[in-house]
Amino acid sequence: MAALSISSSCHSKFFVLIIFLTYIISLSSNIGHVIAAGNNFYQDVDITWGDGRAKILNQGKVLTLSLDQVSGSGFRSKSEFLYGKFDMKLKLVPGNSAGIVTAYYLRSEGSTWDELDFEFLGNLSGEPYIVHTNVYSQGKGDREMQFYLWFDPTAKFHTYSILWNPGHVVFSVDGKPIREFKNLEPLGVLYPKSQPMRMYSSLWNADDWATRGGLVKTNWSQGPFTATFREFKADACVWSNGVSSCNSSDHHDWLSQQLDSSSQKRLKWVQNKYMVYNYCTDTERFPQGLPSECNVTIK
Ligand SMILES: *[C@@H]1O[C@H](CO)[C@@H](O)[C@H](O)[C@H]1NC(C)=O
Ligand SMILES: *[C@@H]1O[C@H](CO)[C@@H](O)[C@H](O)[C@H]1NC(C)=O
Ligand SMILES: *[C@@H]1O[C@H](CO)[C@@H](O)[C@H](O)[C@H]1NC(C)=O
Ligand SMILES: *[C@@H]1O[C@H](CO)[C@@H](O)[C@H](O)[C@H]1NC(C)=O
Repeated sequence: MAALSISSSCHSKFFVLIIFLTYIISLSSNIGHVIAAGNNFYQDVDITWGDGRAKILNQGKVLTLSLDQVSGSGFRSKSEFLYGKFDMKLKLVPGNSAGIVTAYYLRSEGSTWDELDFEFLGNLSGEPYIVHTNVYSQGKGDREMQFYLWFDPTAKFHTYSILWNPGHVVFSVDGKPIREFKNLEPLGVLYPKSQPMRMYSSLWNADDWATRGGLVKTNWSQGPFTATFREFKADACVWSNGVSSCNSSDHHDWLSQQLDSSSQKRLKWVQNKYMVYNYCTDTERFPQGLPSECNVTIK
């Protein structure tokens, strides 16, 4: 008798637990399509390389990548996404970071991949980082634009964002758009729209090209070099087994977002004051004519 009553109370506790778990799972699947990743690196990413040089700290709230003469390190999101708004807080390698690149990008698989890049090119102490951006559609890139920043990116965390929706891709820094790549398919420009992408990040040595075209080499005696990441947020459509978590009955602001006139002003301000390189003005590089999107994006 005693045994029976214990087992039946176990059973009911078990039952309550199942109901509770079902409730939690249903909660998380309801919000799953809205916030596809948020603020826990253990849950959101996998460390992919670096043999212990990438570390998740503070219960998943902080991630550090480091680089020494032997290896860099990197991670990627567990999920794949097809459209979304991606934010990362990042504090770059301080001091002498010449030759070192911190990359934060979205990329699909295969030989005709799509890719949206932020790359931060380090520099000697006191000299400015360059923010390098690029857009690949179906394996074709060659769309570099580079910027200086209006702050020291090694002193504090700043937010670097990529908005990717059917109409455009926007790269932003602390909410200020620095670059827009529009969907100009009517002009025959390929646009990333059908291949799901993962978020990737890495810290690596690129002293063959990064600082002044490879003139300044990485000074290994100042290593190891460390960049710190926080608050990765993907407000995104998760792609899984060929199905998107978003559908036509969902209304995400970012899915149809365009640059309003004040954002366009800020974009112009950044491009006028801080742009270092723009492929769309590099006529020497494209003697056969600038790429078609350049006719529209640059005024
Ligand atoms: C490094 O600093 C130099 C001198 O200020 C500058 O010309 C260069 O653009 C900076 N960035 C890189 C990545 O070389
Ligand atoms: C590298 O850093 C060390 C230590 O700060 C310094 O003594 C040395 O001069 C640096 N080397 C170069 C090539 O700048
Ligand atoms: C759209 O997705 C929501 C969940 O995100 C789901 O409840 C709904 O049934 C889906 N609608 C269609 C038409 O697929
Ligand atoms: C860009 O515009 C110019 C002048 O309007 C035109 O001659 C040229 O063919 C265009 N280039 C491309 C690649 O569309």
